[in-house]
Amino acid sequence: MRLKDKVSIITGAGSGMGRVAALRFAAEGSRVIVADSQGEAAEETVRQIRAAGGESYAARVDVSVEADAKAMVDVAMRRYGQVDVLYNNAGIMPEADHSVVDTPVEAWDQVMAVNVRGVYLGCKYAIPHMIERHCGSIINVSSFVAILGCSVPQDAYTASKGAVLALTRSLAVQFAPRGIRTNAILPGPVETPLLMDWLLKDEAAKKLRLARNPTGRFGKADEIVNLAVYLASDESAWTNGASMVIDGGISVNYF
Ligand SMILES: NC(=O)c1ccc[n+]([C@@H]2O[C@H](COP(=O)([O-])OP(=O)(O)OC[C@H]3O[C@@H](n4cnc5c(N)ncnc54)[C@H](O)[C@@H]3O)[C@@H](O)[C@H]2O)c1
Repeated sequence: MRLKDKVSIITGAGSGMGRVAALRFAAEGSRVIVADSQGEAAEETVRQIRAAGGESYAARVDVSVEADAKAMVDVAMRRYGQVDVLYNNAGIMPEADHSVVDTPVEAWDQVMAVNVRGVYLGCKYAIPHMIERHCGSIINVSSFVAILGCSVPQDAYTASKGAVLALTRSLAVQFAPRGIRTNAILPGPVETPLLMDWLLKDEAAKKLRLARNPTGRFGKADEIVNLAVYLASDESAWTNGASMVIDGGISVNYF
């Protein structure tokens, strides 16, 4: 098992890639704190992990709220005594997020609070425990839109994922000397509720997004989580500060 004896906190693990990651991490031997703002969804992930014989605990957490982020790390310490992996996966992409010229300030602030402040707060409380044991892996979920311009804009989301990328690099150089690796995953469009809930409602938007995609399909959650398992495991002991794109080749496609 690739994550034997590890303790992982995965945010946004009540749905999509976070849930797939939680199940996979547990199957690889990690004890998993399933953190999500939707308490029932988190409980369901934990039920599935336990049914498969894994060890897990659900925490209802809004990652943008400091007290929740602290409680999330505290519960991991109380139950399992250590934090080896912080997988900052929770993220939102609200429908009101368009171009800067028509995105309401409230939508902008909401995206920044969850997607950026949430990563900051998780790190703020997990890193001191990782430093104590001189060991840790932080996995930040950015997006391919952080490195590409998009003519169908979601500017708050794009800016937030750029911030996650910049923060990843800063943490990588600050904390590697203290045993902590920090890396970012940049997924392309993946079939999860986040994307499909609105894309499936809009055939034209779906077609537009597939047109520039050399593989002709969206990604699957597993195809992203495979990389997360590597980053969480000791196999990636010298992988630090990396921005790892998995997008089926969209970002290298000129025409
Ligand atoms: N699906 C894609 O195409 C895609 C592409 C690139 C990047 N991403 C990123 O991958 C990550 C996971 O996306 P997904 O597609 O699996 O999403 P999803 O919507 O299926 O799941 C996200 C989970 O995060 C939880 N969440 C939302 N706000 C929260 C908060 N404030 N505190 C705690 N939990 C919260 C939700 O309840 C949900 O369970 C996100 O960061 C997203 O931006 C997704």
